Amino acid sequence: MAETFHVAVETLTSAVRPVETGGEVAARATALRPVTRDGAAGTFFLETFGCQMNDHDSEKVAGVLISRGYQQVEKPADASVILYNTCSIREKAAQKVFSRLGEFRGSPDERKIIGVLGCVAQQEGEDIFKRAPWVSLVCGSASYRKLPEMLERLEAGDRRVTGLDNDTDETFETEVTRRDNPFRAFLTIIEGCDKACAYCVVPFTRGPERSRGSDSVLREVRELAERGYSEVQLLGQTVNSYADPTHRKMKFSELLLAVAAVPGIRRVRYTTSHPRDFSADIVAAMDAEPKLCEHVHLPVQSGSNEILRAMARTYSREEYLEKIAMIRGARREISITTDVIVGFPGETEKEFQETLSLLREVRYDALFAFKYSPRPNTPSLALHDPIPEEEKSRRLADLQAVQRQIQSARHQTMVGSTMEVLVSGKSRRENRWSGHASSNRVLNFTSSAADLLGTYANVRVTDAGPASLIGEHVL
Ligand code: SAH
Ligand code: SF4
Ligand code: F3S
Repeated sequence: MAETFHVAVETLTSAVRPVETGGEVAARATALRPVTRDGAAGTFFLETFGCQMNDHDSEKVAGVLISRGYQQVEKPADASVILYNTCSIREKAAQKVFSRLGEFRGSPDERKIIGVLGCVAQQEGEDIFKRAPWVSLVCGSASYRKLPEMLERLEAGDRRVTGLDNDTDETFETEVTRRDNPFRAFLTIIEGCDKACAYCVVPFTRGPERSRGSDSVLREVRELAERGYSEVQLLGQTVNSYADPTHRKMKFSELLLAVAAVPGIRRVRYTTSHPRDFSADIVAAMDAEPKLCEHVHLPVQSGSNEILRAMARTYSREEYLEKIAMIRGARREISITTDVIVGFPGETEKEFQETLSLLREVRYDALFAFKYSPRPNTPSLALHDPIPEEEKSRRLADLQAVQRQIQSARHQTMVGSTMEVLVSGKSRRENRWSGHASSNRVLNFTSSAADLLGTYANVRVTDAGPASLIGEHVL
């Protein structure tokens, strides 16, 4: 799953309307006693690293805290509870939390509760207490439902609390989710991963695959639509490996269609798809239902069969290209994006060139490329990793240069066309807006309209760069 969106123009601010912090949550918040170790009003600071699944988990964690009477603050200094929701996918990502925790070294404030959540918490467990003794909460993503109880114990004076089970399905339904993005609602439909790619920590940090019942998914989508959301994004590390545990046994493609049929829903996205489970019925569903957005994120990781085998990706280059041909055969043009790892142990120059040739062959709409990073517990950790860092950097730069050319050329062909955009950003500069097309492309555009946030606008593309499109509102 891509860790960040390509948001092209930094000057654009995404206006965040607190869709779910009003009414019900506020009422319950005041009914509760905001409690802290020193009896002051409870406040929390929450910083999130990693993928959209983590972003969404943080929305649930914030919901749990707000319903207990805590207020969210923007600086750790103002908070009685400081939480980091962490990512462990690459060494650098995992290091971030330790540098954050290091800021409290030497001056730990006894009255503050400092907690590590998410994938580093699950992976490192109680070792975190050894590295940073001022931490008092370590909790993986499968245990967030127990957070109120854990906080209660900490508030009552317990020194250390952990939540490290990782095979429950408790994370799917939380009473309150405080969604940050007022325009696109994230919804996890499958947790964990059973694929066991040789380089990847996710099966260890998020546990085995557990799918959420289709009835529960559809219930939440109906609630979201009633709250005014028109775009939902279904999440899972292997979202298309979804296996409905209810008697309805809905296939993933059937669930997509059922979500799209919920009144008020105009756009349905899903990420990340695993190539092995990407089947023809998903494309058929996209053909049948235009509300299914014209975008598939299909990580390939490498264009070389030898490397794919060493990575245990369970498909060959040829099989992957068959899936691409299937998507290209759809009635609409579907945007395809991917993830690639360069410098997997033993990757030769020839094997790397095969990845470049695959990029040229598929002509992706966006690429998220990473240098291989050895991770704890993973099978590839035992492999000799002789590729020097500079060589990995060179391969990464070559890959990105090729992709930039492809994206620029693809974007140029779109100049003159009109796309429907869900407007989600407003620039500080007058009359400038931004949003995503169904293909997930970012459009920055001008309009004389008074307020477009949250509406769908037809935008004519007037210019294009490698990362985004420029346009004007067609009134
Ligand atoms: N479930 C998704 C991806 C999850 S992680 C999938 O199967 O594709 C997001 C991306 O991080 C991966 O696609 C991969 O490109 C990258 N990644 C994962 N582990 C990595 C590692 N050890 N080193 C470098 N990149 C890695
Ligand atoms: Fe990691 Fe592979 Fe699972 Fe993706 S499919 S989360 S890369 S193990
Ligand atoms: Fe996501 Fe990072 Fe965990 S990519 S699943 S937060 S290791």
